[in-house]
Amino acid sequence: MEARRLKGKVAFVTGAASGIGFACARRFADEGAVVIGCDLNHAPDWARVQQSAPAARFFVLDVCDFTATEAAVAETVRDHQRIDILVTAAGTAAGGPVHLLPIEEWDRVQNVNLKGTFLTAKAVLPVMMQQRSGSIITLGSVEGLEGSEGGSTYNASKGGVVLLTKNIAMDYGRLGIRANCICPGMIETPLFWATMGGEHFAPYRERIREQHKLGRLGQPEEIAGAAFFLASDDASFVTGQSLAVDGGYTTGHHYGFTALMGLE
Ligand SMILES: NC(=O)c1ccc[n+]([C@@H]2O[C@H](COP(=O)([O-])OP(=O)(O)OC[C@H]3O[C@@H](n4cnc5c(N)ncnc54)[C@H](O)[C@@H]3O)[C@@H](O)[C@H]2O)c1
Repeated sequence: MEARRLKGKVAFVTGAASGIGFACARRFADEGAVVIGCDLNHAPDWARVQQSAPAARFFVLDVCDFTATEAAVAETVRDHQRIDILVTAAGTAAGGPVHLLPIEEWDRVQNVNLKGTFLTAKAVLPVMMQQRSGSIITLGSVEGLEGSEGGSTYNASKGGVVLLTKNIAMDYGRLGIRANCICPGMIETPLFWATMGGEHFAPYRERIREQHKLGRLGQPEEIAGAAFFLASDDASFVTGQSLAVDGGYTTGHHYGFTALMGLE
């Protein structure tokens, strides 16, 4: 049996009911961590996490509600005395060019993606400061590294997460706390399908797929693999980074010459 490389660690994961957050919770539990999940919604498959980590707990909360997050953090510390890993995967999406985007939609996306990341880090950092160790893993996006058509509030929120993460790495590094941002390409999760599903989007989905130089979309487990690395001691000297886990999406433009060169 493989070594459980996160044995003895406590991981706090937001957005843990679905997609990338759930994949991280599952991977961390399989690697021996106690996992505390949070989400707006109940996690239908949380029993799968508890199979590997019987002490795993789940809190239904809104990451925009600082009091609720602080309470979940306090309960976690009461039960387990520490938090070693934080993953902020709670997120939402909206699109549209600036002149059409309702102001409420701008605010909603900024609140969940950027302010929610800030509030969760704010609740967990005092615990990590006290223990003088910790790994914070935020979820940015390739759309936080470069622009995309109609991205507006989503791209702005993810660009904010990228820089917030660098600043956390700068401010808390001397206390043994690392902070890194994973910037996924397009990953097949409920969020992706809610945004990009639908027959009318089929040709756009195909163009999006083609921008990934591996020629396919990603799976949540492939992001969880990167999160596991950043959470583990193998990443002990890695901090302040934005790690694109994107199948080559951000390497450059794809025009299709690979087929011409016999490389498809
Ligand atoms: N799927 C992709 O292609 C992709 C690409 C780049 C970045 N991301 C980012 O990865 C993160 C996870 O996305 P996903 O694709 O797994 O989506 P998902 O919808 O499958 O999971 C997101 C989870 O966050 C929860 N959530 C939303 N608002 C919340 C709130 N206010 N408080 C608590 N929980 C809340 C949702 O209930 C959901 O369970 C997001 O930040 C997303 O922007 C996703």
